[in-house]
Amino acid sequence: MDLLVLKNIGKAYDNQYVCKDINLSIREGEFFTFLGPSGCGKTTILRLISGFINPDKGTIFLGEKDITKVPAEKRNIGMVFQNYALFPYMNVYENVEYGLKIKKLQKSQREKKVRKYLKLVNLEDYEKRKVSELSGGEQQRVALARSLVMEPKVLLLDEPLSNLDARLKDKMRIELKEIQNKLGVTTILVTHDQAEALAMADRIAVFNNGSCVQTGTPNEIYFKPVNTFVATFVGETNLFEAEIIDKKAKIAEDMWLNLSQQKEGKFISIRPQDVQIKREYEEGINQFKGRIKKIKTSGVLLEYIVTVNNLIFKVVNLNTLEKSEEIMVGESVYLSIEPKKIKILQE
Ligand SMILES: Nc1ncnc2c1ncn2[C@@H]1O[C@H](COP(=O)(O)OP(=O)(O)OP(=O)(O)O)[C@@H](O)[C@H]1O
Ligand SMILES: [Mg+2]
Repeated sequence: MDLLVLKNIGKAYDNQYVCKDINLSIREGEFFTFLGPSGCGKTTILRLISGFINPDKGTIFLGEKDITKVPAEKRNIGMVFQNYALFPYMNVYENVEYGLKIKKLQKSQREKKVRKYLKLVNLEDYEKRKVSELSGGEQQRVALARSLVMEPKVLLLDEPLSNLDARLKDKMRIELKEIQNKLGVTTILVTHDQAEALAMADRIAVFNNGSCVQTGTPNEIYFKPVNTFVATFVGETNLFEAEIIDKKAKIAEDMWLNLSQQKEGKFISIRPQDVQIKREYEEGINQFKGRIKKIKTSGVLLEYIVTVNNLIFKVVNLNTLEKSEEIMVGESVYLSIEPKKIKILQE
């Protein structure tokens, strides 16, 4: 069931739209992410949903109710801000308790709820600590508890992990996902990190220049990008301008690729893991002679940069080569690409 629906939402500053024609339906209990580059309008859309700003166009529904003109404090939507925005002069307990006091809940009820949510975020021993004495990850958890304690219908998280180091980020991704699972609270997480969106989301909306370009599951976004922006922003890809005639694509002089389908388009996209690298020529289609320019390993993966005529291909393989088979920089190799792995894009 759809819980939050945005219909034709638009917002302008100084007569310039920073988000336009946004249509989104977020289901109850879903972990949804907004993914897009800096400045594409992600925070603006969260502010519109939470009610801190009003749209110039369109309608927002929460359940059956039109909440477009409902004030922020009456929407029951929680928001964790990009910079956490904790109250510096209050300790951890007081920060989490704040919203319940405003709601005029009795002391004993407040205490029960604050303790429950501090426990949930693993901060039960931190009640008396000042916010300034907390690490980034701990502050992030206070901010989360402060929103969760209000038991919102929708939880909005604006790049909550961007200030954390890589290891803590991984840990918090798992914790956050577990907490969301446990509570079942409908959540929208904003990020410009495609790996984070792919790892965490049930569904993703990809934004660019104030528009929603595509929505889908992580696999739909990764395997069926609708255009070159999504193909390059979500995961890496080899993108080439192509002249497409029948079931063939010309990407350079004398370089034609066989395609598995006939479709109009101006570009082709091939994921680095869909290019095979071989020492010897084997009979077959889409085989191209190239030379290894660079090799990099991340441990699990081997990444090759290979030049073919004047084109550059990125190739990624699992790092399982025996020492005797190791391919070296400068070697000449053959690349082969299965036709069905080649995506045709219009724009
Ligand atoms: N109050 C405002 N007045 C004028 N312009 C604004 C205002 N708030 C946001 N903008 C502009 O709207 C655009 C979108 O901003 P927004 O904060 O939504 O981007 P974002 O996707 O959250 O970016 P980031 O990833 O950097 O946080 C930007 O160009 C920004 O400068
Ligand atoms: Mg932002």
